Amino acid sequence: MKAAYIDHPGPPEVIRYDDLPVPQLKETEVLVRVGAVSVNPIDTYIRAGTVQMPLPKPYILGCDVAGTVEAVGARVTRFKPGDRVWGSNQGLLGRQGTFAEYAAVDECWLYPTPATVSDREAAAIALVGITAYLGLFRDANLRPNETVFVHGGTGGVGSCVVQMAKAVGARVITTAGNEEKADLCRQLGADVVINYKQENEAEAIRRFAPEGVNVWFETLREQNLEMAVSLLAMRGRLVLIAGRQSKPKFPVGSFYVKDCKAFGFAMFNAPPEEQQRAAEQINQWLKNGKLRPVIGRVLRLSQAVEAHRLQEQNTLGGAGNLVGKIVLEP
Ligand SMILES: NC(=O)c1ccc[n+]([C@@H]2O[C@H](COP(=O)([O-])OP(=O)(O)OC[C@H]3O[C@@H](n4cnc5c(N)ncnc54)[C@H](OP(=O)(O)O)[C@@H]3O)[C@@H](O)[C@H]2O)c1
Repeated sequence: MKAAYIDHPGPPEVIRYDDLPVPQLKETEVLVRVGAVSVNPIDTYIRAGTVQMPLPKPYILGCDVAGTVEAVGARVTRFKPGDRVWGSNQGLLGRQGTFAEYAAVDECWLYPTPATVSDREAAAIALVGITAYLGLFRDANLRPNETVFVHGGTGGVGSCVVQMAKAVGARVITTAGNEEKADLCRQLGADVVINYKQENEAEAIRRFAPEGVNVWFETLREQNLEMAVSLLAMRGRLVLIAGRQSKPKFPVGSFYVKDCKAFGFAMFNAPPEEQQRAAEQINQWLKNGKLRPVIGRVLRLSQAVEAHRLQEQNTLGGAGNLVGKIVLEP
């Protein structure tokens, strides 16, 4: 089978696109004929070696996958050949990745793909959807009528946070880097969109939420927590998911006197039961139209180098020339 893989970490150019053997199934694994995969910032950190994990050799890139079950291991109970599935959390913690024509995935990390949802869409929502769900609901316990703020309303995680928060009846403030992206944020349901390159974020947030924001879902790698905490409401919740090297100033006084809470998490630590619960709700929202993945670019799997360059330029370089997810197809 064709696969996009690396023999050692390095720049995007270390990615090879070549033949590897179709994986052998373990008893609880499902062989997925890959229809689509998507790129996440963590794919680029692992490829670059800046996030170190045990890597199989060769290491096939990629966390997210959607496709059709080709074969199942002897102890698989939830899927059969021909079923359409999606999943995430591959290519992490020693597991092989998904950027190939076939992927062997433990059934605990797979979910049925609704008939109305394409492989492109399912792959695009996987890791970012689960992340948004865990932050908003498992951790921050978002309630209807509360106010959420998230940076990057057209980004992978941000676009899911906007839509999920609206799906449960919350009010949403988000940001966008240009007017086209701001329009898309409004189409996704955002009540207020701040052009962060032109407007004063703090003033705009305070205007819309004078009592403060109930959930601040921070997606940036470099955070302004003095601003975030000053804008949290009483009993506000701060969700932190990015910036391993980040050491921002943290205003303790204004945080604790408002009885606030902070949550940090990496989605790949969440056990299968928690990810399955997230996936079930994501499937419901995909089916009833409350959640739609934002796909900015569709490339071939053979263009994995280009895909990694584009993701990296945006995640690390602030290029701003990406809207939503990059999806690759074999
Ligand atoms: N802890 C976890 O489990 C977990 C899971 C998923 C992701 N993450 C991390 O979360 C971060 C976001 O991931 P992602 O997949 O959503 O990335 P993404 O799709 O590249 O989105 C990044 C977003 O950030 C926005 N942005 C960049 N600089 C900004 C600034 N100065 N002010 C306001 N907005 C800005 C961009 O907005 P514009 O396009 O409008 O400029 C874009 O929408 C990454 O660092 C990733 O590693 C962590």
